[in-house]
Amino acid sequence: MSQNIRDFYHLHNDSTSVVVDCRHNQPVLSYFGNRLMTVNVSMLNQLDRHEAPASLPIEPTISLTPTIGESFLGHLGLEVHRSATQWSLSPLMAQANASQFNLELTSRCAVSDVEVTHQLKLDPDESVLCLWVTVGNLSDQATLFIDNCTATLPLPDYLTELEEVTGRWAYEFQTQRHAITRSAYVRENWTGRSSHHINPTLTLFEKTTSATHGSALGIHLGWSGNHQMRVESLADGRQILQAGELLRPGELELEPGAQYTSPPLYLCQSSQGQNGLTRQWHQVIRREFLAKQSPACTRRPVQLNTWEALYFGVDEPSVLALVDQAATLGIERFVLDDGWFFGRTDDRRALGDWAVDPKKFPNGLTPIIEACHEKGMEFGLWIEPEMVSQKSKLYETHPDWVLHHQGVPLNEARQQLVLDLSQPPVVSYLFDAISSLLSAHPIAYIKWDMNRDIHQAGNGEGRHAPHQQTRALYQLLHRLKKAFPEVSIENCASGGGRADLGILEYTSRVWPSDTNDALDRLRVQRGFQNLFPPELMGSHVGPSPCHITGRQHSMAFRAGVAFWGHMGVETDVRQLSDADHQVLSQAIALHKHHRKLIHGGSYQVVDRPAGEQAWMILAPDHSEALAALVMLETPSTPFPNRYRFIGLDAHRHYELKLVWPDDLRPLQTNHKEALTGTHWSGDWLMSVGLSLPILQPESLLIYHLKAV
Ligand code: DGJ
Repeated sequence: MSQNIRDFYHLHNDSTSVVVDCRHNQPVLSYFGNRLMTVNVSMLNQLDRHEAPASLPIEPTISLTPTIGESFLGHLGLEVHRSATQWSLSPLMAQANASQFNLELTSRCAVSDVEVTHQLKLDPDESVLCLWVTVGNLSDQATLFIDNCTATLPLPDYLTELEEVTGRWAYEFQTQRHAITRSAYVRENWTGRSSHHINPTLTLFEKTTSATHGSALGIHLGWSGNHQMRVESLADGRQILQAGELLRPGELELEPGAQYTSPPLYLCQSSQGQNGLTRQWHQVIRREFLAKQSPACTRRPVQLNTWEALYFGVDEPSVLALVDQAATLGIERFVLDDGWFFGRTDDRRALGDWAVDPKKFPNGLTPIIEACHEKGMEFGLWIEPEMVSQKSKLYETHPDWVLHHQGVPLNEARQQLVLDLSQPPVVSYLFDAISSLLSAHPIAYIKWDMNRDIHQAGNGEGRHAPHQQTRALYQLLHRLKKAFPEVSIENCASGGGRADLGILEYTSRVWPSDTNDALDRLRVQRGFQNLFPPELMGSHVGPSPCHITGRQHSMAFRAGVAFWGHMGVETDVRQLSDADHQVLSQAIALHKHHRKLIHGGSYQVVDRPAGEQAWMILAPDHSEALAALVMLETPSTPFPNRYRFIGLDAHRHYELKLVWPDDLRPLQTNHKEALTGTHWSGDWLMSVGLSLPILQPESLLIYHLKAV
């Protein structure tokens, strides 16, 4: 039921308050932080500042979507037009719906015939707020163009640093932290996917915030297409943050009566450093995304993927041999990657022709799937639905189905073009092709890949397409999930090129990076897990030397790094030495033994000196934990600093075991033996810490703690 507009709204849960100030025509997110016991109008009035020199007598507010009618001189949050002279917009609040956790505020602009609805939803348990904007064209005659729609919030002035998530192919999720300056910091992603380079995640910190201490505000846009994020210092000294879709002219045109809804913007706040954000992001993702999927989709069997073992050389004999070997290692799911479909001998051809290649698999996929089942393994298959090769039957038949720029030659990347999903027949073709595969075979899992940026994004009607393309992709995934709710979908885009909470509604595993180099993976996995929980993180034991970096690592190190996510193997296991076979089998067995804890516990980073990395995964009741220590480089002192554990129960005692690697160097063996037979108090382990053995560079130790 709608209500009259109040001066302010106070959403809250036990730990968090959100104050939306409505005293000045448009809603302002005045506060999002630790729980406030009292909020009143006098306190809010005190936030209004005196007239600044050379400024308007009343400072324009930083509303949830500042418009040109609000006299706001920063980057606008909402811009529309109908013609060269119809660009004015000045909505006034007209309606409200509020409850303890939810707020919906509707505003209307009589001049432009536009309705704007701001929606806010506070998580009932965590300091996580989701907000989104709906813009409606109220005219019954004229179309409306939305030129920009970015949710906007004032930033508290104590947040002085920002950390971006950046990277490249095979080295994603790298974090870079820098000071906020007196200008605008802008990230614009035009790649048509959420991208390797500009992941839609940003974190703001106090100068002194660390992994474990200090204030932090995390931002994530749940969108898999083009996006923008902006931190701007206004001339008057205030700071704003904006995030939303990134649009080209004409991309968003609303017919009379039509509406646009922005992607959700998630905010998470913590006064316990990055770990406080991480803990809450993981909780919300587990509850709101993963728990809503069928349990079959969120099981995490250890898998073997054929890519770095066979590449395009997959055929019945080699795949059957790999299936045999996989079973001896304890693999539980076998995934046939690229190369299995009609004419796919290399990456120059065949995308779009989603039928089994009779030359490579004369008996179809059935013998492979049966062999997997006989050995107790599920079967999974790779596809790349959004793409087409020029050398394919699909392109020969439908050359007009691709995204393109009029008058410009087609631009291939990885020798492939992008299908135009805004054309309904294209989506029907894909739905039918994928449905036929899933109906004809017991396929438990698909790896959905997307291997290029979208450089030429014009669609069949000549419009710039990324908005429609992204929505159509979501609809296709939604239809497939409805038709095949038990099939788990992995989200891959040349590695981590599309890792975001938009696509996570339909997928249940992320392939964070194509690199299986254990050393590089440590930094990728750390950045990835700032937002995503470990069970979402595909993490494979690759070959040595690594095919991408050429680095060589022991099996113990490679397996010890892959242990921490949704574990898999991606090397030619037919070629393993007996020793490596044994080490890998042991790591897989250890992972299975602790899988429930790894995939359900609380992942927390432990602060360590430069050149080292450490983290723990703790059971919710603190009764059990796993802890890792990695030596990345040659240490500058003979012994590492003591390991001060975090998150344990100070009043309980723990049994502490070194569980990995199995094969220790002599000094480490002494260390392992010295741990046995003692019970360690939680306060000792957290305050005094554990003396560590001498460690070589590029090696890791895994401890298990159990309360007694
Ligand atoms: C890119 C993916 O990230 C790889 O894992 C592999 O599936 C290839 N595509 C196959 O073409």
